[in-house]
Parts: sequence; structure tokens; C-alpha cells
Amino acid sequence: MKSVLLSSAAALFALASTANAQPTAEVLHYWTSGGEAKAVQALKKDFEAKGGKWIDAPVAGGGGDAQAAVLRARVLSGDPPAAVQIKGVNIRDWAEAGALADLSAVANKYHWDDILPKQLQDIVKYEGHYVAVPVNVHRVDWIWANPKVLAKVDAKVPTTWEEFNQVAEKLKAAGIIPLAHGGQPWQDGTVFETVVLGIGGPDFYKKAFVDLDPEALNSDTMVKVFDEMRKIRGYVDPDFPGRDWNLATAMVMRGEAAMQIMGDWAKGEFLAAGKVPGKDFICASTPSDKGYILNSDSFAMFKVKGDDLVQGQQLLASLILGEKFQETFNLLKGSVPARMGMDQSKFDSCAVKSMNDMKETAKNGSLVGSMAHEIVQSGAVRGAILDVVTEHFNSDMSSKEAAKKLAENVALAQ
Ligand code: BGC
Repeated sequence: MKSVLLSSAAALFALASTANAQPTAEVLHYWTSGGEAKAVQALKKDFEAKGGKWIDAPVAGGGGDAQAAVLRARVLSGDPPAAVQIKGVNIRDWAEAGALADLSAVANKYHWDDILPKQLQDIVKYEGHYVAVPVNVHRVDWIWANPKVLAKVDAKVPTTWEEFNQVAEKLKAAGIIPLAHGGQPWQDGTVFETVVLGIGGPDFYKKAFVDLDPEALNSDTMVKVFDEMRKIRGYVDPDFPGRDWNLATAMVMRGEAAMQIMGDWAKGEFLAAGKVPGKDFICASTPSDKGYILNSDSFAMFKVKGDDLVQGQQLLASLILGEKFQETFNLLKGSVPARMGMDQSKFDSCAVKSMNDMKETAKNGSLVGSMAHEIVQSGAVRGAILDVVTEHFNSDMSSKEAAKKLAENVALAQ
């Protein structure tokens, strides 16, 4: 009894001393394109409506590589932002370094174990505790196509890589850019991993990117993957180097290019520009529809001091998995809810396909985590893979040489 009294007194004291603190969060993210900005605004609005003070800390640069450098510098200088958009292996790495706050209390209160699929729980838990909260699931292996442009050469969205090459050749012959691409390592890696899945299949993908099996990395299958990458190189326009991904999406919107291979954040761009799925643009999984490459954004809460900041983190963490928020945010972002059992009625056909394919591939073992988007690899290993992919894409390196180098570089990076 005595201890109960003492603990409730302590709780009262804690409440009294924090009553004046305004929940505050500095939020580090890289959502700066049209669709991304709309989605992050929805989170800000919800947070502010619940009394929170949002300090926006955006770092431009798709894929988050620029933000990663800012985060490292902030943590090293002892001044981490309260909430950071990170994912996959990065979450585990920061948790291992002791930098992340334990979100167990919020997770238990809102029953995260019951509402999150196992694939996401595995990403955001460290040693059994939640250290991040997932916002969404983004599928990576998509083609976004302009149907009017494809119709000019009487083509449909390709379903095999052979068909992809045939359609691309037809487009090229008609003076149309077949593939809108931005030459940045993470975008090269995005295309590459869809080719690895399509040509190698999910087991090969896992051997190469999860197990980092040298025999898979330097295999005949990988040589075929690089052969396809060489073909793809011939289907992009000369101005591709350095182009941002959303500018590539805009090329498809404007009908300057026929297709883009990109995750469904591209859909957020189409929607933000008022384009209608099925009419102005179409989505299809990349050839050969053999699996599902999963990417999921999360917010990790870094250890910070001060009642206002700690309360801000709790508030943010409690909002993100709410049903209403999950719907609003994901409709804008192009992704699908992280939360299971959501009503699908407001989501378009691309999102419904993603939700259904995710369930199906999770059951049959063909759901894989993205390498380019740091779900299964990050840091030095991902860097080593992207280096070879980008070097091959921008030179006349042979496919054999590229596969050999891939295995060597990955071995060195481990
Ligand atoms: C993130 C998306 C983001 C995209 C482009 C991906 O890695 O998961 O949320 O929109 O990069 O920046």
C-alpha cells in the first residue's frame, strides 16, 4: 500500500512539474518533394492540433543519403533531433549505439503488437522493445507509365524484361524517351534491385542482398542482371545524371518519357499534381511480377532531455499509428498503411494492389526487403553495392567484371 501511495504521489509530482511543458518535437526528415511535403504537413497538422510544437528540419535529397550525414553530425555533437525519419538496418544500428529512446510505454498503450505486421515489427524493434514507429509501407518494384505515350507506339506496360526491351526499342525508334531516370546512386540501386528480383527471383534476391552470398553476387544470373542494366542505360535520355527522382516523375507526367521505375512515392507526385490513376498514369509491378520489394518509413525517437521534448516524442509516437492519420498520410504519400486491418475503400487501385500483393507475398515467402532503401542493408555494404551499380551504369564496364567487382566490394565492406 505504502509503495502504491508513494508511486501515485510521484506520478502527481511528475504531472505537476510537467504541466506547463508544451510537447515539442524537432522532426528531421527528407520529405521535400510536392507529394512528400503534403504528407509531412498532414503529420504536422495533427501534431499541432493535439497541442504539439513542431520544429521542422527538412534535408532535401531523395532516398535520405543527405539527411543521414546531417543526423550523424547532430548525434556526434550531442544534439540529436527528437524525431528522425529513418528505417531498416539504420534503426538497429542507432539502437545498438544506445541513441534511441524506448517506446514500450506508448507501444503497449496502443497495442502495436496487435496492429503491426510481423515484417514491420522486426524492423522497428530492438531486443524486443519498440525503438521506432512505422508510418507506412512503400513498395519499390513499380513501373509508372503514361498510357497516352505508350499508345503512340501501340504498346502496353511490359510484363517481362524482354517485353520491356522491345517496348523501349519501339519508343526510342519513335523519338520518345523510354525511361525517365535520375542518375543518383540510390536511384540506380532502385532500378537495379527490381531487375535482380525480376531476373533472379526472390530467393536469389535474398541470397544476394540479405545473405551477401559471394556465389550469388558473382553469378551468371548477376551477369544477366548487369546485361539488362546495360540495356536500360540505352533507354534513358542524355540529361539523366544527377536528376532528382521527382523531376523524372514529371517527365512521365508531361509525356516526355513513357515510364519510370520508382517506389510508390512517385504516385504521391502524380496525385499532388492532380493526376488520376488509371487515366493519366498507370502503375504496374516491374517485370516479372515475382515478388514484392518492401520499404517502410519510420520515425525513431532519439534520446533527448527535457519534459517538453520527451512529451513531444510520446505525442508523435502515439499519433502515427492512429487509423485516421494512417489513412490521411498514406493517401497523400502514395504508400499504404503500416497498420493492419484498415478500411481500403478510399485507396486507389495501385494501393489496393500493393496491400493485396504484400499479404500474398508475405505468405508465400516472396516478400523481400529493399537494399537500395536500407531495409536489408545500410552503411558500407549498401554503399559498396551502389558504387558498383553506378560505376557500371556510367561506363563501359562488362557485366562479368561488374558481377566480380560486386562480390569483391561487398566482401571488403563487411
Ligand atoms: C523513402 C520515401 C521517399 C523516397 C524519396 C525513400 O527512401 O522511403 O519516403 O519519399 O525515398 O525521397
